[in-house]
Amino acid sequence: MKKIYLYGNWKMNMNCEETRGFYKDFGGQVAGSSGLLGAMGEALEVAVFPPFTSLAAAEEASKNLDKRTAPFLGAQNVYFEPKGAFTGEVSIPMLKNLGCTHIIVGHSERRTIFGESDDLIARKVKACLDEAIVPVFCYGETLAEREGNKTFDVVSRQLRAALSGRTSEEAKKIVYAYEPVWAIGTGKSATSDEAQEVCAYSKKLIRDLAGSAELPVVVLYGGSVKPDNAKELLSMEAIDGALVGGASLKADSFLRIYRAYAGID
Ligand code: PGA
Repeated sequence: MKKIYLYGNWKMNMNCEETRGFYKDFGGQVAGSSGLLGAMGEALEVAVFPPFTSLAAAEEASKNLDKRTAPFLGAQNVYFEPKGAFTGEVSIPMLKNLGCTHIIVGHSERRTIFGESDDLIARKVKACLDEAIVPVFCYGETLAEREGNKTFDVVSRQLRAALSGRTSEEAKKIVYAYEPVWAIGTGKSATSDEAQEVCAYSKKLIRDLAGSAELPVVVLYGGSVKPDNAKELLSMEAIDGALVGGASLKADSFLRIYRAYAGID
């Protein structure tokens, strides 16, 4: 079985107390399942992305977990400058200082609600790579774009912008997350064929842009991933894992996504 990346984007949910509860529950679930315990690390990579205000609580709570089972910690957004007069923003060094190893960049909610452009997102991707932190680069089309047969144009534009000026060494350090906007938080996931088609296209394009047909590329699918559609989606050849919103807020439903895929209790 391939390695699965299971990433949980908590969005604007989970205060410090709820975060501590999640970690306690998470530790208990993993310790209580030999299948999960055995998978952690080699076969399963888990990361959680709490809101900024809960990162310190998450880092502290993860110290109570067996090192092998602690999820990677990530942030949901960042500004590309290291410090200075940028009211309300948070920098990469600040996030690294809190134990973050990953940062979500270009989530569709940042693009649509907060007006983030391809150019701004590309600068964030570059800043993460410069600071040796993993950018989890999100991209995907809206419903109108899909219905207008623009999916591949949009995906291509977003990927090209993010990878412009990046070397193949850098391109392989990015985790890519294809998230069709119409499937996010709607309960209406893409079908496994729809997700596979765009993820396969993405991999080919990323390798073409990087100039290396053999480049290892990790592409996640995101958009209403739940335990009951996990097996079908994660079994698709071009899909390496899931970026999960709603179903990642409880350790039980989050881990059941992998359990459903791997067929373990
Ligand atoms: P969802 O969110 O799983 O709640 O659809 C996914 C995401 O936005 O990353």
